[in-house]
Amino acid sequence: MSVIEELAHAVTLPASWYGADPGIWEHERRTIFGREWLLIGREAELPEPGSYLTETIAGSPIFVIRDREGELRAFHNVCRHRAGPILWDGRGKCDILRCRYHGWVYDTKGALRRTPEFGEAAEFDKQDFGLFPLQVGIWRGLIFVNLSADAEPLDQAMLALTEETAAFPIESYHFHSRAEHEIACNWKTYVDNYAEGYHVQAMHPGLDREIDPKQYQVVLKDRHTVHQAPQRDGANYSGLWLWRFPNLAINIYPTGMNIERMMPMGPNRTKLVYSFFFQDVSPAAETKIAAAIGASLEVTKEDVQICEAVQRNLDTGLYETGRLSPRHENGVWYFQKLVREALAAA
Ligand code: FES
Ligand SMILES: [Fe+2]
Repeated sequence: MSVIEELAHAVTLPASWYGADPGIWEHERRTIFGREWLLIGREAELPEPGSYLTETIAGSPIFVIRDREGELRAFHNVCRHRAGPILWDGRGKCDILRCRYHGWVYDTKGALRRTPEFGEAAEFDKQDFGLFPLQVGIWRGLIFVNLSADAEPLDQAMLALTEETAAFPIESYHFHSRAEHEIACNWKTYVDNYAEGYHVQAMHPGLDREIDPKQYQVVLKDRHTVHQAPQRDGANYSGLWLWRFPNLAINIYPTGMNIERMMPMGPNRTKLVYSFFFQDVSPAAETKIAAAIGASLEVTKEDVQICEAVQRNLDTGLYETGRLSPRHENGVWYFQKLVREALAAA
């Protein structure tokens, strides 16, 4: 079937996949979030040896640290003794990694160095109890991790996006601020919503004054999509809105960029993390920056409101599946197709 034919027949994912069926959540943790390269921060956040940051990826606590030689390393935040946390959540700097529970000490390469007061355990070799490593890489100043040991290299995974963003000097943008929103919905409820401009007219009156939702287009690419929305005033818009499977959006504007991550925290909880960057972050630019962030926040509030309401309705058990708009919901169809494929490949 061609894409047009498939779209004409497109049916949404079952409502039970949005949290009610706990098996789907476990399945997604392994087959999607356990296999994809996922953005977790900026390289500049780890400026020197010992700098670290923690994150939770679909229920798996992890951390990234810069080792003594300056290399980035990533590990599960799980001690090999009795699964205590190596680092409390957050960012910081440390010389050695000392488990918070009973004080086992690891070096920044993950090797177990000391087990204070442990006693003489039989057939116990420290070498067998290093931290569980994961893959880490840098793409355009951004840190990505992959929980899978046999994932394709990051450069290869990001090839399509490297080409897509080649014209934009995003490394030169200055980080301005970060904003987080906890949302009571499944991560797919939010991504579905991000994937279409069909709801702009009804849900985003402010945005609707600026762009023409009838002409909102989502172009399907290689595991990512490009969103295009002509401005009502006919201004020549030179930005780029990108979404990449599973949970990353990069919105590049003529004056900066907003990176958005939809982090699944549980079957019914999602943390939306925004990082705002601008070309000019001088005090003189602050009024414009505040206006840009304010406009983004307004749209986000509207999206959160609708996604939480949709989630409550999906949870009732009344609605099972719906049909997708062939004109406006090709992005939703494509995202859901990638989810279906990932789960089927397991
Ligand atoms: S759990 Fe880490 S030292 Fe015991
Ligand atoms: Fe929206």
